[in-house]
This record gives sequence, structure tokens and C-alpha cells, in this order.
Amino acid sequence: MAKLILNHVSKDFGTGGRPAVKALSLEVREGGFLALLGPSGCGKTTVLRMIAGFEQPTDGSIYLGERLLADAANMLPPERRNMAMVFQSYALWPHMNVADNVGYPLKVRGISGERYRRKVREALSTVWLEDYANGGPRIFPAASVSVWRWRAAW
Ligand SMILES: Nc1ncnc2c1ncn2[C@@H]1O[C@H](COP(=O)(O)OP(=O)(O)OP(=O)(O)O)[C@@H](O)[C@H]1O
Ligand SMILES: [Mg+2]
Repeated sequence: MAKLILNHVSKDFGTGGRPAVKALSLEVREGGFLALLGPSGCGKTTVLRMIAGFEQPTDGSIYLGERLLADAANMLPPERRNMAMVFQSYALWPHMNVADNVGYPLKVRGISGERYRRKVREALSTVWLEDYANGGPRIFPAASVSVWRWRAAW
């Protein structure tokens, strides 16, 4: 994995107000950890969505090492970036059980059989969800539904 670089990245949704993100520059080293903190509406999700490839910057550029991921004229689609993202709105597939939701990214990479099952088991046990593997995402206790769904999305 290479360094992630944002160069003066902006996103203007064209709604006539202020841009959602304005000239953001940052670098995340390989294996690095970065937290974006700020008030609601300051543009955190928009930044993550541009990194993952769900939004295109209107200015600036995003690189992974030497590789251009996006600028105002170029846009590598999400499936060609090898990025993982936990959506703020959870985005679980209701027709798949918890294990299948967790394993889907492995499946699209062609991982199957025992290796697939082992990786799903490991991911579920990391967030203490092994006991819920065969249930649907709606099985999570209502009182803490957002936390449970977040754990499954993670
Ligand atoms: N698809 C869109 N179309 C138009 N405006 C948008 C769109 N998505 C986000 N915005 C606007 O961009 C700004 C930044 O929104 P964003 O969701 O990135 O903020 P956030 O920091 O993630 O907020 P929160 O902490 O509430 O999750 C907000 O003013 C929001 O209304
Ligand atoms: Mg957000």
C-alpha cells in the first residue's frame, strides 16, 4: 500500500452555497491512521467519499503513491481503487446474512472455500459477532442497532 495524498482537494456540489470541501491537503503514510474531526456538515464524509471514489473532486487531486485516483478531469471508479469504506448509513444488504455481508468484498476478489470462511470468521470474531454470523442484519438488538450494524459493516 502506498501513501495517500490529497492536494488542495475541493468539492462544490453546485448548490450555490459554500463548497462542501475547500482546498484540503493531507498525506497519510502507509499504515498510518488519521481521524477527521469537525462539526456536522464540515465535509468529513465528502472527503471519505472522494477518497473511495463515490464523489469526484471539483478541484485538486487525489493520489495513492504515484497513481492518480481522481481530479476534476479524471476519475478511477471505486471498484478499481481497492479501498474499503464503512458508510455512515451502514449500507448492509438485507437479503444476505451477517457473514455474507462481511465476506462480500472477499467474494468479489475471487476468494472462496476455506480461505474465505476463515477470513470471515476472523473478521467476525474481531468485533465479537461470531454468534450472529447466520442471522440477517435485522437480528441485531433494537436498543443498540446502530452500534451492531456498524460492527457488521466494519
Ligand atoms: N450529495 C450532496 N449534494 C449536495 N450537498 C451535499 C451532498 N453531500 C453533502 N452535501 C453538503 O456538503 C456539506 C458537507 O457534508 P458532509 O456530509 O461531508 O459533512 P460531515 O462532516 O460528514 O457531517 P456529519 O458530521 O453530519 O456526518 C454539507 O453542507 C452537506 O449538506
Ligand atoms: Mg458525515
